[in-house]
Amino acid sequence: MTRAIPRPAGHPLLGMVPAFRHDLLGTLERTFREHGDCVAYRLGPARPRWLGRDVIAAYHPDDVARAMNDGTVFGRDTTGFTVIRESIGDGLLTRDGDTWRRHRRTVQPLFSRRRVTGYAALMAAEAEKIVDGPAMRPGILDLHHLMQRFTLRVVGRALFGDDIDNVVAELHELVPLLGEASTARRLQLFTIPLTVPTPCNRPLRDVRRRLFAVAERVLNGWSRESSPVADDLLSRLRGARDPQTGETLSEQEIRDEVLGFLLAGHETTAGALTFTLHELGRRPDLQDQIVAAVHEGGPAADVLARAAVQEGMRLYPPAHSTERVTLENTEIAGCPVPVGSQILISPWVTHRHPEFWPDAHRFDPSRFVREDRRPRYAYFPFGGGARACVGMQFALLESTVLLKALLSRFQVDTTQHDMTLAPLLTLRPAGPVLATVSRRARAPRVADVLA
Ligand code: HEM
Repeated sequence: MTRAIPRPAGHPLLGMVPAFRHDLLGTLERTFREHGDCVAYRLGPARPRWLGRDVIAAYHPDDVARAMNDGTVFGRDTTGFTVIRESIGDGLLTRDGDTWRRHRRTVQPLFSRRRVTGYAALMAAEAEKIVDGPAMRPGILDLHHLMQRFTLRVVGRALFGDDIDNVVAELHELVPLLGEASTARRLQLFTIPLTVPTPCNRPLRDVRRRLFAVAERVLNGWSRESSPVADDLLSRLRGARDPQTGETLSEQEIRDEVLGFLLAGHETTAGALTFTLHELGRRPDLQDQIVAAVHEGGPAADVLARAAVQEGMRLYPPAHSTERVTLENTEIAGCPVPVGSQILISPWVTHRHPEFWPDAHRFDPSRFVREDRRPRYAYFPFGGGARACVGMQFALLESTVLLKALLSRFQVDTTQHDMTLAPLLTLRPAGPVLATVSRRARAPRVADVLA
């Protein structure tokens, strides 16, 4: 039997827009607790209907599984992806249909298990550079800044065949501006095409212009001869041919892919590492376990470090929400959902679903060591189905390598216990994430830690 979708009451004229602007994640979590696995959010006034829009959330893992896998019912032509396309160009994330398939086939070999394992030495060298570098002196430091630097260098060297230190500072400045301007556009009830320089459009137009210039700098600085990696992202993009027409990618298509990979390839992983270290900074016992396993050798250190990152991404999923649109009438959690509905999928909420996550708010990496049984889509920080994150293995390996290197040299103590979050394009800390680091005198033995 179907039931009407519950709708939390919002502002009389703006609906849920003020609540989403004020505290998106808190609002989603609270309304899930109050209404259950399917909730409709009105953006704009209730009447007339055309003055606003509805977003319908699917929180149960079974519905998430359908949304991620059933491309006949759930498409990607959503407000959110349109804003991303307008903001940073049309890359793999926002493309659809045959061009998406072709581009994905072009880049996929760079992320095969064998290739990703091959990046381990490069990741370890970059981790050593960070850990032994001048920024990592005992005392108080900003974990987020450090992790952004690390992940950008890794993605730069692995995918673009060179380090990209000359764009680090500018990306550091532009990423939060991009997040703020594009999130504001996403919550606007009416959008004027970005080609029109209105006061509302100007900040996003400026950020976009500067980001394109960054991508072009990376492109201009690259040459096949100077690249130390024989088969990198740019060689692949430049060498790609349409199987039917034999045409190569245009300069604009290449620029958009480069920018997409620069952003998707560092910001999310930097967040995952920052949040994980912030939580580990309250748990010296868990740090000791990882360090002891590192000193013991064997696979336990990888298992423990990886479990810590997985749990970090459960509580703080860097891709905190995504969207789909219904291509036909369907049901979500027993509620009828009409064709053309915007569907919100939020790992932030589903990763806290009490049916699948006992004591959901507690940071407990052992959930991923025990490999507890749960539905596949109770946990999906990397999405799923054909559109799952292409960089998943890359990000997991990079994070494991960094955690092992950093923790075996330093103990991390969380200095600032309240971390304010900014759920923009990705989930990021709203300011610096301060921790006190001190050099380890001697690593504990596994037996001592696990006793
Ligand atoms: C912890 C790190 C990461 C997280 C949490 C993450 C998360 C995600 C998620 C959830 C999606 C799917 C979005 C959707 O279907 O709506 C996605 C797609 C994507 N990610 Fe990641 N990602 C991470 C790291 C990376 C890295 C390191 C790269 C590249 C080096 C990357 C490149 C991409 C690309 C290109 C797509 C689009 C794939 C497609 O549609 O074919 N990501 N990511």
